[in-house]
This record gives sequence, C-alpha cells and structure tokens, in this order.
Amino acid sequence: MENLNQNLNNFLSDLNVFYRKLQNYHWNIKGKDFFVIHAKLEEYYDEINEQVDEVAEHILTLGGQPLGTLKDYLNTTKITEAENKKVECTVVFNEIIKDYSTLLQDATKIKELADEQQEHKTSALMDGIIEDYSKKLWMLKQSME
Ligand SMILES: [Fe+2]
Repeated sequence: MENLNQNLNNFLSDLNVFYRKLQNYHWNIKGKDFFVIHAKLEEYYDEINEQVDEVAEHILTLGGQPLGTLKDYLNTTKITEAENKKVECTVVFNEIIKDYSTLLQDATKIKELADEQQEHKTSALMDGIIEDYSKKLWMLKQSME
C-alpha cells in the first residue's frame, strides 16, 4: 500500500499546484475570448478543488497521511507554476493541455498499481477521474483547431 499512497500523494501535489495555476490564469487571462475562458477556468479549478478533497480523504481511508502543506506540494509536483503576469489564451490552452496530460498519466499509473494490488476502491475512483481528463483533453484540443 506504501507505493500506492506515495503515488496518490504525488497526484495530490499535482492537483494542488494545478489548482493555483488555473486560478492564476483566471485572473490574468487577456484577449478577445476573455469572458469565455475566464469563466471556463473557474469551472476547471472548482472541479480540481473537489478532486483535491476526494484524493486526500481517499488516502486517509487507505490508512495513509495526505500531504497538506504548500512546501510539500512544491517539493513533489511535476506541474510548473504560472507566472504573475497577463497571459494570452493560446499559452493557457497549451499549458493546461500539457498539465491535464500529466494528471491523466498520474491517474492511469495509480489505477494500474491499484489493480495489481486488488485495491478496488482506488481503481474505481481513478475511473471517473481518467474519464474526466480524457474528455477535457479532447475538448481543449478541439478548441485549438
Ligand atoms: Fe473570479
């Protein structure tokens, strides 16, 4: 279970840093599509925030200890933070496509580990998350064409 909890904590770190990044972009987005993207980013970070809580509480149900400090998240995450400056829509789209792909890899790896260990509730939790990110990636890529 150790390895599974560690992977869940790495995922939790990525989710927390991605939450901050999405809200930073929500604040700093500029351009003609401002109104649409500003609102969409809020929808995205609200969903990520729900997943932060779900994953942390899931770690607790497995008897693990979820990481809970910003220092932990920054030491562990694979997500690169956004900068404190105005940002164009295309930069935001490229970045979040990359980040949702990273999160999808995290969730897929966790599901594979969970299946190996017959940890069914972790595997089931990842199913919804994998479906969510796959659909988001499809939509984001469509919007770039
Ligand atoms: Fe806002």
